[in-house]
Amino acid sequence: MLFVKAPAEVAESIRKKMLAAEIFDPNHAVEKSKSHVYFPAAKRAPGFDFVERKARTRKRKPRSLREALEGKLAPADLDVLVTSFDTIGDIAVIEVRYGLDEALIGNAILESHPAIKTVCKKGGAHTGPFRVMPVKVIAGENKTSAVYQEHGVRMRVDVDRVYFSPRLSSERLRIAKQVVPGEEIAGFFAGVGPFPLVIAKKKKCRIYAVELNPHAFELMRENIAMNKLRGEILPTLGDVREIAPYIPKCDRVLMPSPKTGESFLEPCISAAKPGGVVHYYEFAPDEDPYSGAIKRIEAAAESLGRKAKILNRRVVRPHSVRVSQVAIDFSVN
Ligand SMILES: C[S@@+](CC[C@H](N)C(=O)[O-])C[C@H]1O[C@@H](n2cnc3c(N)ncnc32)[C@H](O)[C@@H]1O
Repeated sequence: MLFVKAPAEVAESIRKKMLAAEIFDPNHAVEKSKSHVYFPAAKRAPGFDFVERKARTRKRKPRSLREALEGKLAPADLDVLVTSFDTIGDIAVIEVRYGLDEALIGNAILESHPAIKTVCKKGGAHTGPFRVMPVKVIAGENKTSAVYQEHGVRMRVDVDRVYFSPRLSSERLRIAKQVVPGEEIAGFFAGVGPFPLVIAKKKKCRIYAVELNPHAFELMRENIAMNKLRGEILPTLGDVREIAPYIPKCDRVLMPSPKTGESFLEPCISAAKPGGVVHYYEFAPDEDPYSGAIKRIEAAAESLGRKAKILNRRVVRPHSVRVSQVAIDFSVN
């Protein structure tokens, strides 16, 4: 096999010249002696000192899931493979089409992404009042809980027992940026606490965080302690409808429950001070994302003898075919 022989003291500059001349062979290992470095060469070119030596194949980590599966999965299966996945700490959560070899795919993720220690397969949609999506561990360590980090906050998430989406990260930051120091906030539908944690980390405020799922509630308590936000976030286990009347009227109300938010508009609006802001979420059709939600907001406010003023509307993320999650910020008098 062909190598370029380079004196050790100038080896790096010769390697760069080989790269520039496009003769460096990345598939074989670089060899060394006391005085020289031997770079594998794909072909000859003028200006280099070539020698013949025995070569060792270099084992290169695949750079993507697709690359890790090339040659292992049939081309037709590679074409339908969903190669994007959510990462929650050192856990990857991926959708695996029916009929594909899940262990093969899980192990390929471990091989191509060294920071991932566990791969979970999505077991269906988010269902039930807790919006939990069952998962199955298909490769790596047998666990479903990990510590996830965003915007300077650490939080423990159990992907099998609570709702959590890393895809709402920028939405959390968007809300945190709007908070004025000293605000009192109703952090309803809190889950493991991502909205309250990010807000309280960025702004001095008091957040009443309410969550119905006992597993999510316990993790939220752990996360509040982990981020040293005891006293700033006050967690309550229970139903927003029952708890809302007992918390002080707030400057801001968070409603991150797009599937069921509509039926909670009245108790959530009631939790806002006059002039308070409500952040409302819905899943809405792409052809008309806002008008249905705005009608529902206005009707709910009116039924309480209040008036809603729409401040902002935006598409947060795609949800399913022609359906997106939208956010509507409104104030109430
Ligand atoms: C879509 S998840 C959002 C969780 C969290 N805010 C997040 O972004 O990760 C909705 C959350 O509301 C909780 N939930 C559902 N109904 C509730 C209710 N009536 N009162 C309080 N929490 C409720 C669910 O258990 C779930 O954790």
